[in-house]
Amino acid sequence: MFTIPDVTLNNGVRIPQLGFGVWQVDAGSVVDVVGTALQAGYRSIDTAAAYGNEEGVGEALRRSGIDRDQLFVTSKLWNSDHGYDATLRAFDASLQRLGLDRLDLYLIHWPLPARDAYVGTWKALERLYADGRVRAVGTSNFQIPHLRRVMEEGGIVPMVNQIELHPRLTQAELRRFHAEHRIATEAWSPLGQGNLLDDPTIGKIADAYGKTPAQTIIRWHLQTGNIAIPKSVTPERIRSNFDVFDFELSSGDVDAISALNADQRFGPDPDTFDVA
Ligand SMILES: NC(=O)c1ccc[n+]([C@@H]2O[C@H](COP(=O)([O-])OP(=O)(O)OC[C@H]3O[C@@H](n4cnc5c(N)ncnc54)[C@H](OP(=O)(O)O)[C@@H]3O)[C@@H](O)[C@H]2O)c1
Repeated sequence: MFTIPDVTLNNGVRIPQLGFGVWQVDAGSVVDVVGTALQAGYRSIDTAAAYGNEEGVGEALRRSGIDRDQLFVTSKLWNSDHGYDATLRAFDASLQRLGLDRLDLYLIHWPLPARDAYVGTWKALERLYADGRVRAVGTSNFQIPHLRRVMEEGGIVPMVNQIELHPRLTQAELRRFHAEHRIATEAWSPLGQGNLLDDPTIGKIADAYGKTPAQTIIRWHLQTGNIAIPKSVTPERIRSNFDVFDFELSSGDVDAISALNADQRFGPDPDTFDVA
């Protein structure tokens, strides 16, 4: 039995390098979908208050019978709950929906720079961390100026920044900043929301290893040090996306995939995105 590789965060907590994302997995199917993922071997689940499926994720975790300390559960604070007091309340509500007494990782979902509230929000995450209610805290969609501010005005360096990252958006500058400050890079939409799976370069490399394009991209994430959280509701894809620990891309192939960067986002721009 292999163990899933992990990344040690700047506070010593270990996060599996391959997790399972549940954005757009509807509440009606999430129990089965997460159940399939846990059976396939995933132990890390990435949800958010905004996904509307925390109850089902919690139910799937309980039904699996897997020990809580073998699981890594992430949730995120939604835009409508920024600010110190609202954040503390939103965290309690997420825990309650999940049916858990602590989280492994809690993230600020978006920085919303125009509202200028994220520093207060970050201080609430620091409080939750100090109180032992969450094992690690971090940010999502934070750009370098946002990270600098929470580091300067807060007391701790975020342990994770979860950002859009895939072969068409390799985020070299942000990843360098993360490395300098020991912030782990977590890749959302690691498959480019499925848009990269017919890329000819990726297809050619995948064929050479006898692997699928999705497996090849996931392997690229693992070998470049990212934490990746691919999503699928399709049982066969859920399983095959996890079947990536028996091959290794050459450094030339890793570089060829990195060279596909076109600074192309499939999701919103974090500097301007703001919905309630
Ligand atoms: N922090 C943030 O702001 C943020 C934003 C977006 C996403 N996320 C997180 O990142 C996770 C992953 O991102 P994502 O869901 O946007 O995109 P993704 O994982 O890059 O791609 C998911 C899409 O690819 C398809 N797919 C997955 N495996 C496949 C395979 N082996 N072959 C063919 N198609 C495949 C899925 O289809 P089916 O499901 O139909 O199989 C789905 O349409 C989310 O679930 C969420 O947890 C976070």
